[in-house]
Amino acid sequence: MPGGSVWVLVLVLALALPSTGQQSLDEAKRIMNITPVIDGHNDLPWQLLKKFNNQLRLPEANLSVLNDTHTNIPKLRQGHVGGQFWSVYVPCETQNKDAVRRTLEQMDVVQRMCDLYPETFTCVTDSNGIQEAFQSGKVASLMGVEGGHSIDSSLGVLRSLYRLGARYMTLTHSCNTPWADNWLVDTDDEKPVHHGLSPFGKMVVEEMNRLGMIVDLAHVSVDTMKAVLNISKAPVIFSHSSAYGICPHRRNVPDDVLQLVAATRSLVMVNFYNTYVTCSNTANLSDVADHLDYVKKMAGAQAVGFGGDYDGVTGLPTGLEDVSKYPALVAELLTRNWTEQEVKGALAENLLRVFREVEKVKKDLQGTAPAEIPIAFEELEGSCRTSYGYTSGAGTAQRLPPGLALVLALVLLLSELF
Ligand SMILES: *[C@@H]1O[C@H](CO)[C@@H](O)[C@H](O)[C@H]1NC(C)=O
Ligand SMILES: *[C@@H]1O[C@H](CO)[C@@H](O)[C@H](O)[C@H]1NC(C)=O
Ligand SMILES: *[C@@H]1O[C@H](CO)[C@@H](O)[C@H](O)[C@H]1NC(C)=O
Ligand SMILES: *[C@@H]1O[C@H](CO)[C@@H](O)[C@H](O)[C@H]1NC(C)=O
Ligand SMILES: *[C@@H]1O[C@H](CO)[C@@H](O)[C@H](O)[C@H]1NC(C)=O
Ligand SMILES: [Zn+2]
Repeated sequence: MPGGSVWVLVLVLALALPSTGQQSLDEAKRIMNITPVIDGHNDLPWQLLKKFNNQLRLPEANLSVLNDTHTNIPKLRQGHVGGQFWSVYVPCETQNKDAVRRTLEQMDVVQRMCDLYPETFTCVTDSNGIQEAFQSGKVASLMGVEGGHSIDSSLGVLRSLYRLGARYMTLTHSCNTPWADNWLVDTDDEKPVHHGLSPFGKMVVEEMNRLGMIVDLAHVSVDTMKAVLNISKAPVIFSHSSAYGICPHRRNVPDDVLQLVAATRSLVMVNFYNTYVTCSNTANLSDVADHLDYVKKMAGAQAVGFGGDYDGVTGLPTGLEDVSKYPALVAELLTRNWTEQEVKGALAENLLRVFREVEKVKKDLQGTAPAEIPIAFEELEGSCRTSYGYTSGAGTAQRLPPGLALVLALVLLLSELF
């Protein structure tokens, strides 16, 4: 090569190399203008409760100026966020106490957020609604119930939450419910009770399929994951979980489950929390990209999504500090040779496909009657519950040995008499 050409090459490389990052970022933003991100899990509603007791009209609660959260309106705009499942989380501590009431209040605060900032948010409840929001440049806002304790073991409450707009439910948070085991049974911090789902838990999943509510397997035990992936008629999501193969934390999805994710056309929306990304207190953007690459390799590009867990965690990766940073992550995927189609899948299209399949199953099950069989009374914990209905003699999801059932019936009968 003549000397002159070498210098031209050096010059071209010098110009090209530093600009690669900027070029990828520009390309990421171009793609996200067409296909913005739909994130699987954001805990802003919990912050609104903790900071302001859900008083949205306090001047300091203004979502345009709020500056000590991962999420605010300018950051959502910068991040090209076009859809968000807002978590209507209530802690496990509320189980058998005021879980249902508090869940309703968190659903109310999301609805009021949409009403107070109509130029930014639009509350939607189906896949078409998300696409309409994309067209109008609004953030499609959906509600995800984080933890089966929110339904207090009642199919009637489950259906009511659906009617109020809940479109996914995480079957457990970090505690067992009376019908499903959570991830802490895999760390020996809690005893397994159901080894997956109880008979009533299976009914909950069937009813979610019938209703068209997405089943979320973040936070559940591996046995629960497998039980659900075996029986669900529709694909499921992990709304905010990363890959166990990269960071062996029990909140993450193990390899054999990733195979089932692929087989069921389900979705893993990768969590950005440092602890789940690197199993340590520090992480960076490329560590998160490693999880996305890994899920893609193990389960296919159609199984990848984003579930940042913003405002629900304390340690976030360098480069992904708040919701304005999604384009930087997309730029990283582009430099890792993800195709535009793969990127659009991870951003939104994979979630939209899962949601449409869930809606299709709902349609197919239109002729099926709502499940009516209640959980057995003795499977409930907590002395605050009344027993109305249980003395009618109508059956429950799990029957006791006859002797015990007779004693219980007598106790209930006596307690109603006195
Ligand atoms: C954050 O907002 C508060 C008012 O809500 C304001 O007093 C404070 O100066 C702001 N901080 C920054 C860094 O902008
Ligand atoms: C929030 O603050 C912005 C900027 O100061 C203002 O324009 C807007 O009306 C406020 N919104 C609400 C709901 O208070
Ligand atoms: C899946 O369900 C079938 C019956 O529908 C059952 O025979 C099988 O054991 C289940 N597998 C798992 C892993 O739960
Ligand atoms: C992220 O951290 C890893 C070490 O965990 C390091 O190898 C890599 O260069 C870092 N990437 C960036 C973009 O800082
Ligand atoms: C991306 O593709 C280019 C060109 O084919 C190749 O040189 C590069 O090594 C690839 N990068 C990765 C991370 O696979
Ligand atoms: Zn969570």
